[in-house]
Amino acid sequence: MVANEPQQAAHVAAPAPADGHVTLRPPCAQDGRRVYDAVRTWGGLDVNSAYAYLLACDRFAAQCSLAERDGELLGFVVGLAPSDTPHTLFVWQVAVAPAGRGLGLAGRLVDDILARDPARYRFVEAHVGPTNQASMRLFEGLARRHDAPFEAREDYPAAWFPNGHDAECLVRIGPLREQGETP
Ligand SMILES: CC(C)(COP(=O)(O)OP(=O)(O)OC[C@H]1O[C@@H](n2cnc3c(N)ncnc32)[C@H](O)[C@@H]1OP(=O)(O)O)[C@@H](O)C(=O)NCCC(=O)NCCS
Repeated sequence: MVANEPQQAAHVAAPAPADGHVTLRPPCAQDGRRVYDAVRTWGGLDVNSAYAYLLACDRFAAQCSLAERDGELLGFVVGLAPSDTPHTLFVWQVAVAPAGRGLGLAGRLVDDILARDPARYRFVEAHVGPTNQASMRLFEGLARRHDAPFEAREDYPAAWFPNGHDAECLVRIGPLREQGETP
């Protein structure tokens, strides 16, 4: 999930930090293009193909969430459910429009996915670039809110990538409590 230089895209304007009701929902196929344009515009993430986002929004929507205000995309999580660990939500990419950062929205997006199927998810995992403090703090905050253990370790060293890509640390949060379970 490490940064690429932001590129120009015509379809996603950065929303102004005005008041307004923010809604969260699973995406549909037509949102794939909007997420792709957001990744290119907002910066901070590897830009994958438009097809990859379309596929995620269409076929893996249960592990994804979009935040919108007045119909404008404000943030998203593209997640995966690893086939060998179905109780894990793997957060593949998460981003919030620059004007909407620092308000806790990314954590709400992850919680939105977990809340759809609380009996299923016991762990949240993500790859975080070693210098991405906002992202690391996002996942530390998630662990705190859920009162769950938090671990981070290098997972994919820089040498496994083409030149210029940082290592990826794996953060792992959990086990999350089951509903009604007490500490
Ligand atoms: C990472 C990101 C999704 C966080 O979204 P957000 O809605 O702003 O997250 P939050 O408001 O919950 O902030 C998360 C934490 O990071 C902290 N934070 C925010 N911006 C920060 C910054 N520039 N540097 C350090 N910490 C920062 C917040 O204070 C908060 O910490 P706290 O809970 O201990 O107070 C957002 O910054 C973003 O879109 N970044 C670009 C894409 C990216 O890097 N995605 C993650 C890839 S691994």
